[in-house]
Amino acid sequence: MKKNQDVYYGDYLQLNKLLDSQHLLSSDYNNTAHDEMLFIITHQAYELWFKQILHELRTIQTVFEQKPIDDKQLGVATHRLERILAIQTLMIEQVNVLETMTPLDFLDFRDYLVPASGFQSVQFKEIEIRFGLKSRYRIAFDQQNFYRRLKTEHQEYLKNLELQPSLLEQIDQWLARLPFLNFGEFNFWQSYQQAVNNMLNRDEQIITNNPHLGADEKDQQLNSLADTRNQFKQLLEPKAYQLQFDTGFYRISQDAFLAALFISLYRDEPMLQQPYKLLTCLMDIDERFSAWRTRHAQMALRMLGRKVGTGGSSGHDYLAKAASGNKVFTDLFTLSTFLIPSSSRPELPDTIKQSLGFYLSGT
Ligand code: HEM
Repeated sequence: MKKNQDVYYGDYLQLNKLLDSQHLLSSDYNNTAHDEMLFIITHQAYELWFKQILHELRTIQTVFEQKPIDDKQLGVATHRLERILAIQTLMIEQVNVLETMTPLDFLDFRDYLVPASGFQSVQFKEIEIRFGLKSRYRIAFDQQNFYRRLKTEHQEYLKNLELQPSLLEQIDQWLARLPFLNFGEFNFWQSYQQAVNNMLNRDEQIITNNPHLGADEKDQQLNSLADTRNQFKQLLEPKAYQLQFDTGFYRISQDAFLAALFISLYRDEPMLQQPYKLLTCLMDIDERFSAWRTRHAQMALRMLGRKVGTGGSSGHDYLAKAASGNKVFTDLFTLSTFLIPSSSRPELPDTIKQSLGFYLSGT
């Protein structure tokens, strides 16, 4: 067996390989561009962080493969999601370093790179797919072009991944299994509907009795109130929900959506705190990916102006569309539409509260 003193810093980290992996293409053309080193190292640093994200994400997915999921494991999964969030923060900050390269310096070596592009980052695509950005949810351009620029082996790897359950699908199944839809004698969703009606009736009265609104403004506000009423109705009717699911407005099942809504409404109940934290983390991750995409698109605009990308996309225009359109946990953001103030929330019967709470011994 090896002894500890045999371990040597550089060997352990395989620095020979790592630090010998920066090959400047511009040097091959006898036209060494100083900033190409920064360009390569920045991309490599990102790829290392992508590797770490995948290391976390794969084990998070293993947790959600279990049925039922052990509460402790839910804590571990949330902790790992938080680590991904911290890495994402770094990813956004890291753009600043590459931006010390000026657009003119970039032009010194940019043409040597064609047709290579970030499009071909298989790890980035794997992260997207594992989280849940499968082909059908991508913006139109991306749906058509996603696989075209990849080597066959990479295409096959990612296509196979598309067939596996994504984290989004696993979260859907986990939420749908939670026992928040049927509490026996207590029909929670009927009470919720009643509370919503009371709230909307109050809003209607406020609009109708507001002396500062003109007839047109009143009509406008009453119409949007009617839309809100309709949205609530469609949420609770299985057929109406399914129709919206089929159009892609919802991505998770009605049972899952309602469970997530219940968790958000009663997030202070001890048993719901961990699931609530997890859902919040997923929203944060989606938001931070969008922030990175936006930041990266800004950098591309600064470097390229309106030129096309080396991978053949429209460049900034494509990246900006991907930033606003390529999202995963959209349903969790839609949840807020259906939240009602705590004061209007149906009171949960004690028996249910008890089953949602922890029993502390000795009390
Ligand atoms: C000078 C700096 C950069 C410029 C001008 C730039 C530009 C672009 C452009 C125009 C695209 C769209 C595809 C294309 O037509 O090529 C793209 C995609 C991409 N780039 Fe960059 N990029 C830069 C740096 C980086 C860095 C440091 C990373 C980190 C890994 C990165 C990762 C990506 C990824 C993952 C995509 C695919 C995004 C998607 O399809 O949503 N890029 N980049």
